[in-house]
Amino acid sequence: MPVITFFNEHRSFEVDAGTNLRRFMLHMHITPYRGIDRLLNCRGHNFCGTCAVEIENGKGVTPRGQDEEATLAGNLAVARLVGKNMRLACQSTIVGDVVVRTFPDRPLDAEKTRQRFALIGLATFFGFVLAAMFVLLLLDMIKVM
Ligand code: FES
Repeated sequence: MPVITFFNEHRSFEVDAGTNLRRFMLHMHITPYRGIDRLLNCRGHNFCGTCAVEIENGKGVTPRGQDEEATLAGNLAVARLVGKNMRLACQSTIVGDVVVRTFPDRPLDAEKTRQRFALIGLATFFGFVLAAMFVLLLLDMIKVM
């Protein structure tokens, strides 16, 4: 049976191969989540990226997929650099002995974050312009102005 070791928590367990890492962690009361993320996470649906852990040497779990990599890099405004051993606990299946580090550093990708905020700003601006034009059109139709 594979052995999972949680480095920061100083705990080890024997598990069945094929066990989902996030489910096992929560079952053992070891959380991958920080603060409010305990409540505000996607419940293992590969969307929020809050269950990120570091797998020592990247061994003992199934390989990382493209969807998982995209989620790790940040789905929303904030982009993050993705280390090669970074994994989402919810997308990791145990296949062998594994050492897990919870709460890994997740550095910001400043350039991509800046680009995303610029795009969001542009989209917001044009959204307001469109809404204002629509309101003016409506007012003109009912002859208020
Ligand atoms: S719990 Fe949301 S991505 Fe894993």
